[in-house]
This record gives sequence, C-alpha cells and structure tokens, in this order.
Amino acid sequence: MEQYVIKGGNPLNGTVEIGGAKNAALAILAAAIMTDETVLIENLPDVRDINVLLEAIQGIGAIVERVNRSTVRINGSTISDVSVDYEYIRKIRASYYLLGALLGKYKKAEVPLPGGCNIGSRPIDQHLKGFKALGASVDILHGSISARAEALKGSEIYLDVVSVGATINIMMAAAMADGLTLIENAAKEPHVVDVANFLNSMGANIKGAGTDTIRINGVKKLHKTEYSIIPDQIEAGTFMMAVAATGGSVTVHNVIPKHLEAISAKLLEIGCQVEEMDDAVRVERHGRLKKTNVKTLPYPGFPTDMQPQITVALALAEGNSIVTESIFENRFKYADELVRMGASIKIKSNTAVIDGVEKYMGARVSAPDLRAGAALVIAGLAAEGITVVDDIEYIQRGYENFEGKLRSLGAIIERVSSEKEIQKFRMRVG
Ligand code: EPZ
Repeated sequence: MEQYVIKGGNPLNGTVEIGGAKNAALAILAAAIMTDETVLIENLPDVRDINVLLEAIQGIGAIVERVNRSTVRINGSTISDVSVDYEYIRKIRASYYLLGALLGKYKKAEVPLPGGCNIGSRPIDQHLKGFKALGASVDILHGSISARAEALKGSEIYLDVVSVGATINIMMAAAMADGLTLIENAAKEPHVVDVANFLNSMGANIKGAGTDTIRINGVKKLHKTEYSIIPDQIEAGTFMMAVAATGGSVTVHNVIPKHLEAISAKLLEIGCQVEEMDDAVRVERHGRLKKTNVKTLPYPGFPTDMQPQITVALALAEGNSIVTESIFENRFKYADELVRMGASIKIKSNTAVIDGVEKYMGARVSAPDLRAGAALVIAGLAAEGITVVDDIEYIQRGYENFEGKLRSLGAIIERVSSEKEIQKFRMRVG
C-alpha cells in the first residue's frame, strides 16, 4: 500500500503538461479491436485503468504491442474469445466497452455485469436498452451479460438519462449494424466526440457526436488507422483547481480550452484569473477565494468528475457555498475527511453546504475514489503542516505521475510505502 505525504502551504507555480484523456482512451482501446487490421493509438495516459484494459484486450486474444508509454498498437484479428473475464470488470468497469465493440464486430459478446462502485450504484440499463433496440437478445446469466444477434439492425434509440457510457457503447455496436441508428438525448462529452472521430477514422460513418442526436450509418467493415487521443479535460481541471486552492500561477499545457469552459467560468467567479491560449490555460490566484454555488451536470455543464476538487477550493473561500451533485448518488464520501482537515461542510443528501474556513490543517486521510483522492491531495497542498493520503491506488488509476507533476510546480509531495518513510519525510521537512 502506498501513500502520498505532503507538506502543504506552498503556492503552485510553473507549467504542467496534460496527458491523453483516460475516459476517451478506455473507449478507443476497446473500439480498436473492431477491425482485423492494426490500429496505432497515441497520446495514451500511462495510468492503471488503461493498463488493465489493455490486459483485458489481450485476454480475449488480440495482439497488444506497447510501443512506448503513450503509444500502443492493437490488432484484433486474432480474437478467439468474445467473453471477457470477471477479473477485469472487477478492476475497471469500463471494460464493459468491450460489449459494444465485440457485439458490433462479431454480433456476440459476453461481459460480466459490473457491480456498483464507490461513487454510486451505476446501472447499465440504457446500454442494454440500446443493444436490444439494435436487435440483439440480451440475457443476464450467472452475473454476466450475454448479447447476441443474427444481424444488428439500425434503430432509433432515446436515452432516458444522458449517459456517456451508454452513448459510446451503443455507438460502437451501431457502427457495424445494418442501416441507420439515431441516438437521441446522447451525451455530448468531449470523449464521446473523440470516440466518434476515432471510429470515423477507421471507416465508420458517424455524424452529430457532440450534439443531442448522433446519426450512425452502419458499415460492413472497419479498417486500420493511426489516432491521437484528446487531452484529459479532468486532469487539466484538477491542476487548475489546485492553483485555486494553493494560490500561485500555473500554465496548463496541451489542453483544449473549449473543453474547460465550465471549469474556467467557475474559477473566474471565485476570484481567480484565467487566461486562455491556443492549447494552454494559465490560472492565477492571489487574494482569498470568493464563494459560489455549483451544480454538476452533463457536458457542457460543470463535470461531476471535478466536483470534489472544486469543493476543496470552495471550503477555503469566504462565505457560504453550495455544491449540488446531480449525476452520482454517493460522491461526497471525501467530505468527512476534509472536515478532519478543518473544513466546515454539511452534506444533506446530494448537496454540500460549505462554510468557508481560512485554512486546512494537515491530517491523515484516505482517498475514497479517484477524483476525491485527487481533491484530498489538493487539500493537503493547501494545508498547514503535513498530510498523509492513504489508498492512493485510486488516484493512480487516472492520474499519470501526479506527484511528479505537482513537484515540478513547487509542491512538496512524495509517494511512500511504509510508516518508516512517512516518519522520515516528517523529520526531513517537518
Ligand atoms: C463516465 O462514466 C466516466 N467514466 C465517469 O468518470 C464520469 O463520472 C461519468 O461518465 C459522468 O461524466 C468513463 O468514461 C469510463 P454515465 P459512466 O453513464 O459512463 C446513470 C472518473 O472519475 N445511468 O454518463 O459510467 C448513472 O447512474 C469517472 O473518471 C443510468 O441510469 O457515466 C449516472 O447517474 C468516474 N443507466 C448517470 O446516468 C445507464 O445505463 C451518468 O452516468 C447508464 C447510466
């Protein structure tokens, strides 16, 4: 078990480079098996979730060649098995993208039903509704979803909830169905658009990704491609919010500023300066933060994946702020940990009522999930004294070299794996 140890109180200054979008990459890697030709994917983040999905793809018989940390070649011609092992789903829910990819290509797939997770119950009924509308029979047997069809037939599908996963999974299957599929009330997140662009670069015919209605004209075959994944909007937002919490001035490079608009708008509201450049944003904070209210919404609204990070900043702002989580039911688990660091936050159902404090005090806390874990690190960076964050494997699932990037901005943070190392850190920097 590893921990982060942090000596807080230093403003962040300098430049940081953002990696490829994890959540785009997870879907794109699954979609890459849909052709028998070799696909080259660049700008992959080197994070745990990606590496587990690559193992799952190998597990069904595809050839996976890691060219370097951020580049992989995948060839799906050798796939021998359309059944994905439970081990992978258990480690990473997004292995369920193999359901849409395998169903589209082979018209059959078997994937264990993902359970709930730390942020909520996370049903996948909309994914299954989409597959059924395309003509697949979908059964749940012994904890696994089995989907098969003689032929997939284009259809009109209205999603009852805006779901990133369902939009992408249905888009993949429909890319190789006969005829036209319309996905209505589709998710519009940048990674939905990236997956559509990737599939189109393989010869799919998908229009309207990024709007409410996606039109997919099925094709018989997909072909090889070389594709570079978009920058990670949430990794970028996390560094932007870290500057809000600690103060300082950081230029975040390799981003698409348009994807960050909801985050930039909130940073401006709370008193930060934000300057957009072509492929970078600079965030500065000098005085005390101002209060605001935030409600998470599907894109282009404020992302749920940034909710814990902005809460950490708002808990240091002057006055009362309210944060409402409208996507997942259990995404405030970190609030108790923040309270232990001196925050004043009351959770009432899906709302956090925050009474801003002047400062956090270092404490030992544990990361309940990926984004909340990153948020607790930010709190540690802003806190007086030393913070130890336990369970950082959650953070490593989605942030590449988080501590290294923060250190390059002047943070005092180390990754350690024993109580002895924590003691040494305390003696050295305490
Ligand atoms: C994706 O999850 C992301 N994961 C999540 O990122 C992100 O929080 C989420 O989208 C929302 O933006 C990946 O891309 C791998 P949804 P996903 O389907 O696709 C309900 C992170 O930290 N719903 O858009 O699972 C669902 O319960 C993570 O990187 C149904 O009711 O999210 C939720 O309330 C965690 N039925 C809402 O829709 C369904 O069939 C949105 O979920 C599907 C979803």
